[in-house]
Amino acid sequence: MSGHRTLDDMGDIAGKRVLVREDLNVPMDGATVTDDTRLRAAAPTVAELADRGAIVLVLAHFGRPKGEKRADMSLAQVTRPFSDVLGRDVAFIGDCAGDEAAAAVARLAPGDIAVLENTRFHAGEEKNDPALVAAMAKLGDLYVNDAFSAAHRAHASTEGLAHVLPSFAGRSMEAELAALETALGKPEHPVAAVVGGAKVSSKLDVLTHLVTRVDHLIIGGGMANTFLAARGVDVGKSLCEHDLAATAESILDAADRANCTVHLPYDVVVAREFRANPPTRTVNVHEVAADEMILDIGPAATEALADVLKNCRTLVWNGPLGAFETPPFDTATVSLARTAAALTREGSIVSVAGGGDTVAALNQAGAAGDFSFVSTAGGAFLEWMEGKELPGVKALER
Ligand code: 3PG
Repeated sequence: MSGHRTLDDMGDIAGKRVLVREDLNVPMDGATVTDDTRLRAAAPTVAELADRGAIVLVLAHFGRPKGEKRADMSLAQVTRPFSDVLGRDVAFIGDCAGDEAAAAVARLAPGDIAVLENTRFHAGEEKNDPALVAAMAKLGDLYVNDAFSAAHRAHASTEGLAHVLPSFAGRSMEAELAALETALGKPEHPVAAVVGGAKVSSKLDVLTHLVTRVDHLIIGGGMANTFLAARGVDVGKSLCEHDLAATAESILDAADRANCTVHLPYDVVVAREFRANPPTRTVNVHEVAADEMILDIGPAATEALADVLKNCRTLVWNGPLGAFETPPFDTATVSLARTAAALTREGSIVSVAGGGDTVAALNQAGAAGDFSFVSTAGGAFLEWMEGKELPGVKALER
């Protein structure tokens, strides 16, 4: 990425204090981290800086404490799991700004690593308050942003610091930006995008942007029902935003104008109740009964989508095709994810996935490991798919 300086551009950092913004916002069950993907993503940058003799000060948020100090959102609980992932000692410092933090930092030696307390315990973090930015900046000589998944926030630690200290993109940030550039920036065509999820309303901007960028837009999940209904299909009791019919129409028109083929399912799996393993029927979309719900894409549509992917060179995936948490409505998602994984392994497509439920769905399919890149980001991935500039990324630009 030419626009950003990276760790390669830092020169000799031995003895320098480096503030590294990571995303340590991991899901926890008691003291256990239930998905350590983000800790593993953070590790290479932190380890490299320590190996190069820097004093590594990790800045991060946890949860949404809104300026309050809350024991249940302390980063103290993530320090040990992070240290385990790194395989190195990691100290914990009880604040990310102020005299006590400065005294604790002064006791660290080159090569030491410390996690600083949740930046969001300060109200100034989310306000990007210059006073907090200055107080944090006092603790370090250099700033590295390695938290792509928090880069959609213009906060003190994600954006403000880049303006007051020499700033660099970390390894995880670099990898995320490179993957996104490959997938939507300058992709090899044809490009397919899979967009699933419950509601059109939450992905309106994503769809509007994607129709101008991709050759095939595959719509799944509850939002496909809104499009089907807009086209005059009776979707029965399915989750559907009937009030968005006109919006759905205008997205389809925009796709037409941009030569983007929109793929909606023509067969679907329906049930009368939404629970695990109820009686189901596989029907043409025009045969959904008034008391039935569409809960997954059908096998014929899934096969047709697999054929679409076989003719594409690039794939961006966000969101499941059906109600994948509830069996058997994960069938289409699992099947198409496995097709994408196989095509990636063969070298015929580059596949990039990210955002919320997506990674869980791909893990369930056993396919995540074979994708070219799986983003650590939820909201940031969506904003990027909307074509928005992420403030944390923009601030790193030279
Ligand atoms: C995330 O979990 O997506 C990031 O850590 C950002 O968290 P936020 O949505 O609370 O800003």
